[in-house]
Amino acid sequence: MFRPAEHSFPDMGYWEMKAALEWQVSMGADEAILEAPVDRTEAKAPEPIVEEQVQAAPALNAVAVSEQLASAAENLDALRAAMEGYEHCELKLGARQLVFADGQPNTRVMIVGEAPGRDEDLQGKPFVGRAGQLLDLMFSHIGLARTSPDRKRALYITNVLPWRPPQNRDPKPDEMAMMLPFLSRHVELVNPDILVAMGNHACQALLGKRGITRLRGTWCEAFGKPVLPMFHPAYLLRTNEAKREAWADLLSLKARLRKDVP
Ligand code: URA
Repeated sequence: MFRPAEHSFPDMGYWEMKAALEWQVSMGADEAILEAPVDRTEAKAPEPIVEEQVQAAPALNAVAVSEQLASAAENLDALRAAMEGYEHCELKLGARQLVFADGQPNTRVMIVGEAPGRDEDLQGKPFVGRAGQLLDLMFSHIGLARTSPDRKRALYITNVLPWRPPQNRDPKPDEMAMMLPFLSRHVELVNPDILVAMGNHACQALLGKRGITRLRGTWCEAFGKPVLPMFHPAYLLRTNEAKREAWADLLSLKARLRKDVP
């Protein structure tokens, strides 16, 4: 993966440099000119890559690497460290920090969102911006909170992707695929009774399905756990009329928690 020397453009981040380079290419710049002239009559042809070099380069299988790292993580601290050290997701280059999780690992309900936004990237915690405030308010109405030390009232919150996508763009399928083994292990280690999939991307990751308008409120299963798909709170902020359905889903979650008393 290309990682520019940090000292060469101290004021530019990775995505800004990438955008500047892409702009130059779109303007027709197809050759890098050096500061000193190059006598091309003297220039040597590049050394051919010999077969041994090709064979020596390890085949990069980002998913296989994340599977291996995730399964070796014996607890949440180890999982976080494994994700911190994972170098195959390009999003890491543009993000300020890893956003791992928030709330109580000793919980019955684990919420899975999409990816950090600006506020989450700054604070290193999921769902701390406006959508997060609405999420806290929604779950407080059924007696659940990320700050509650009581397992029956607690929440644990994470995302499919732990790094903020540039300009909050949608996650790409390969990014979701390479981070899925970490999410699967995360669920295994927390071992909640119920998963809540917030929005389309969480449904795609957990259930392999999209279409939240149809899916929401219908109990499904992933990683051996019941999953409740719900509208994402960012969508609820823009769509007042969907709040009624979100309320119905919260009541369905409350009823299921009562019914499945462990
Ligand atoms: N939206 C998400 O899906 N996750 C966050 O952490 C914040 C906003």
